Amino acid sequence: MLFAGIDLGTSSVKLILMDENGTVKKTVSREYPLYFPRPGWSEQQPEDWYEKAMEGLLALLDGEDRGKLAGIGIGGQMHGLVALDREDKVIRPAILWNDGRTAEESEYLNREIGTEILAERTANISYAGFTAPKLLWMKKHEPELFSRIAKIMLPKDYLVYRLTGVHSTDVSDASGTLFFDVRHRRWSEEMTELCGIRKDQLPQVFESYESVGTVSRETARLLGISETVQVAAGAGDNAAAAVGTGTVGEGKCNISIGTSGTIFISSDRFLADEKHALHAFANADGGYHLMGCILSAASCNKWWMDDILQTGEYVREQSCIEALGRNQVFFLPYLMGERSPLNDPFARGTFLGMTMGTTRADMTQAVLEGVAFAFRDCLEVARALGLSVERTKVCGGGAKSLLWLKILTNVLNLKVEIPWSEEGPALGGAMLAAVACGRYGSVAEAAKQIVKVREVKEPEPELAGLYEERYRQFQRIYPACKGLYRSLYGDGT
Ligand code: XUL
Repeated sequence: MLFAGIDLGTSSVKLILMDENGTVKKTVSREYPLYFPRPGWSEQQPEDWYEKAMEGLLALLDGEDRGKLAGIGIGGQMHGLVALDREDKVIRPAILWNDGRTAEESEYLNREIGTEILAERTANISYAGFTAPKLLWMKKHEPELFSRIAKIMLPKDYLVYRLTGVHSTDVSDASGTLFFDVRHRRWSEEMTELCGIRKDQLPQVFESYESVGTVSRETARLLGISETVQVAAGAGDNAAAAVGTGTVGEGKCNISIGTSGTIFISSDRFLADEKHALHAFANADGGYHLMGCILSAASCNKWWMDDILQTGEYVREQSCIEALGRNQVFFLPYLMGERSPLNDPFARGTFLGMTMGTTRADMTQAVLEGVAFAFRDCLEVARALGLSVERTKVCGGGAKSLLWLKILTNVLNLKVEIPWSEEGPALGGAMLAAVACGRYGSVAEAAKQIVKVREVKEPEPELAGLYEERYRQFQRIYPACKGLYRSLYGDGT
């Protein structure tokens, strides 16, 4: 048996082919554009996702025994609003997870409805990137388009729909909509009513490891596969990455350094952060998790290297960095505003502390360190909740940099475990498909048999101590800038 796992990311779609023992046989990826029509806005075309995913699937299956493909599972970027009309045609470009246009709607939900009521109904409060404020924004700014909505979907659900013809979602991705009752794993009628959505506009909710059905005849024809191939409900990319790194069950941690950065703590039972700085979502293994999400992680480094320094030489640039823990330059990584724990769409990327002696390497280093400090802000919230996190798995493109891993290990003062497979969400997708097809009895069983750690990085006491001091200084910068960000950028420019 073979299983295809798809990671529908923000910069690209990554695909893996896994055999029935969990060995990754092949990986493929395809890029698509990301549009920033205004500062702080972020959109993509769902048709691009479909086209590139199909192109990727064809490349993945090329030369393989297609008859052996049993299942497909997808992990996808969360929170994005895909709106379909009565003919299932996309009404407007998808508004993504890192889009900050909904500051007003999000504030309305938190203030007027109130965080207590939101938390009671959904286990979460509103953040600009969540789906509910996006619908309120559409209702206000695009009433004609809003009136044509027949179905609302999340990004990976659109792909599942195109593959199967079924309108579905899964519990982990639904958790990030703010109209899902996370604790009871069902839509919250009060919340959907409040956003002006009818029940029939919502997709059916599945557990992530359940099959929503088989591929359509058209999909089978286009890919040259059997019509019996099952498609799992899949998961939000972070929950899928958690499966792919074995972050399932009680008290495990995974850090993903992708376009966004997330710190993900799994739990068997429902738990929530009373201050809601961390999201309380359902996990793809049938349990729950807490998650902090920083909006710009590997994307900060990509922006700095590609757009500002205009070099593709990531390794060479990083090899010029020498004095870890002693950098006088700070970088606040809020290029798309910030989600956790600040909930501030008006925050902006900021360098601080340059002198005539500052070098290019200092600034490159500050970018890597700024992202690590932002992760630490999230970890501090988890620690304040009494959760003891001593080790974490790591995945995502940023985890390929050994220097960045060293910085992160010491800024967080955690043991960092690097799994054999770097393809967290895509591997998780394939594993969910394998469970959906009955190859494994549960997600936990699949994780136990498939996920193996390649290497463990330990913090170095002296360096961790230096970073402790630097972090205390970093912590003072945002409060000093907060008012300025709102007064300078609060009008959406
Ligand atoms: C999580 C989040 C991001 C996206 C990006 O809440 O918004 O991690 O899922 O892929």
